Amino acid sequence: MNKLVVTALSTIALLSPAMGEPGDSARGERDFRVCAPCHSLEPDRNMTGPSLAGLWGRKAGSLPSFERYSDALKSSGIIWDDRSLDGWLTDPERMVPDNEMPFKGIKDASDRADLLAFLKEATKPGAAPQRNARAQMGAKGAMMGAMGGMMGGGGDTNLKSLDPARQVKAITYCHDSYRVTTANGKTRHFWDHNLRFMTDSSKGGPESGAPAIMPAGMLGDRAAIIFAAPDEITKMIEQRC
Ligand code: HEC
Repeated sequence: MNKLVVTALSTIALLSPAMGEPGDSARGERDFRVCAPCHSLEPDRNMTGPSLAGLWGRKAGSLPSFERYSDALKSSGIIWDDRSLDGWLTDPERMVPDNEMPFKGIKDASDRADLLAFLKEATKPGAAPQRNARAQMGAKGAMMGAMGGMMGGGGDTNLKSLDPARQVKAITYCHDSYRVTTANGKTRHFWDHNLRFMTDSSKGGPESGAPAIMPAGMLGDRAAIIFAAPDEITKMIEQRC
């Protein structure tokens, strides 16, 4: 067979659009910031979405420690590899109708290739932990940005070692308002629509009885109070005018 033809054919195969050119994993690491608020690369560290550690070769919807998969994803029969992940990231809803990943997809094939090049390395068992940490810091940075950029830099979201301004000491409720007193002695008022109550049971979550208040939203009028467990929420809120 003509050597020239063989070379030409294999070049075409390499450049075929489905799997595209090899991606740039440095660019992919930056692109991962879109995913990182919902996905960790640490094994079994689940957030809104499941941890992506060990993704290649995994059956879709099968990580035992993640309990919020949609039935659609669990019964999709997909095995995650270069091709299926490219399809998923192009248009999740088209590939798995009724899945619960709130993400529209990435239309640009080279952006997907970059992201997959990064993910393939970063999700390998025992992938360099600094790399994971770095990607996650990016995510925390982005999340803090979304929370109103009031965190004073730093990606420190360990709610066990908090600035006194973030440590909630007392909450009172009257009509449509909350008053929140923090460990620095300051009290702030919130319209009851603007305060959210959450729990964080992870290692980085607050100490029992010591909830944290974090700014939320863009306008500076909203916040979230994060408790160690749900029963603390009503116990802590005193109804008093
Ligand atoms: C707003 C949160 C959110 C964002 C942003 C997000 N995801 Fe997801 N992801 C989810 C949720 C929730 C699921 C589970 C969906 C289901 O069960 O239907 C999921 C599922 C997945 C799965 C399947 C995992 C498994 O165990 O089967 C992969 C792969 C994935 N996401 C990759 C990504 C990538 C890559 C990005 C960034 C381009 C991204 N996701 C962005 C929330 C998100």
